[in-house]
Amino acid sequence: MRAGFVQFRPVFGEIAANIETMLGLVSSAEADLLVLPELATTGYTFTSREELARISEPFESSPSLDALQNLARERDCALVVGFAESSGDALFNSSALLYPDGDRKLYRKIHLFGAENLFFTPGDIPFEVHDFRGVKLGMMICFDWFFPESMRTLALRGAQIVCHPVNFVLPWGPKSMTVRSLENRVFSITANRYGTETRGEYSFSFIGSSQVISPVGEVLADAPREGDSVAVVEIDPALALDKKLNKFNDLFASRRPEFYGNITGKD
Ligand code: ACM
Repeated sequence: MRAGFVQFRPVFGEIAANIETMLGLVSSAEADLLVLPELATTGYTFTSREELARISEPFESSPSLDALQNLARERDCALVVGFAESSGDALFNSSALLYPDGDRKLYRKIHLFGAENLFFTPGDIPFEVHDFRGVKLGMMICFDWFFPESMRTLALRGAQIVCHPVNFVLPWGPKSMTVRSLENRVFSITANRYGTETRGEYSFSFIGSSQVISPVGEVLADAPREGDSVAVVEIDPALALDKKLNKFNDLFASRRPEFYGNITGKD
């Protein structure tokens, strides 16, 4: 499978221009699966819920997702992209898995970061995996990485490739995703944006550094901190099915959940 990321710099509020940029970059790649950043259609730095409500789109009838999915069909390539989702009164920081055959799957960011908590509704769908050409794909968004349970849950559900749209600002994200891939023996594709976005009282500098990580923690491809970047690598997703570290340790079979307890940390 040829899989990779698209790194670019969305312009806040300029959905049509952002879609054009993404269409151009996706068209430059020969791939089966490409991951694009978090909130790639809208930009990141919302200053009010009203502003977010105006720009959000429903998952099932989103002109932005339709445009990207038309290209997915043309390129015979699956895309994972972050977008602002409206659903009734709720507003989610979501990602869509757009299949070339027109089907689409949804993930809603479970662990909201910083001021996202003021504007977005926390995700309400459990971590799920989705089949693509016989390979199990999982989705999580940015700050979900800070919670090892996110990737562990996806991996225990059978994910072979974790698709991770991000707007990383914290410097530890890329290195930490190496560990997340290693401890779960899965591929991860982290697609970040770059540039600084300043709006109202908020200013974020995004760190680029998109990457593809193998189940043994190798960096298979990475992007610079700044600049558009598209990278595709040939991967064998079957490697993610082998959880053996050595002849004594299978990372999943060696788990001892009976000793972990059912601890919520809220007791
Ligand atoms: C983040 O979750 N966008 C930092």
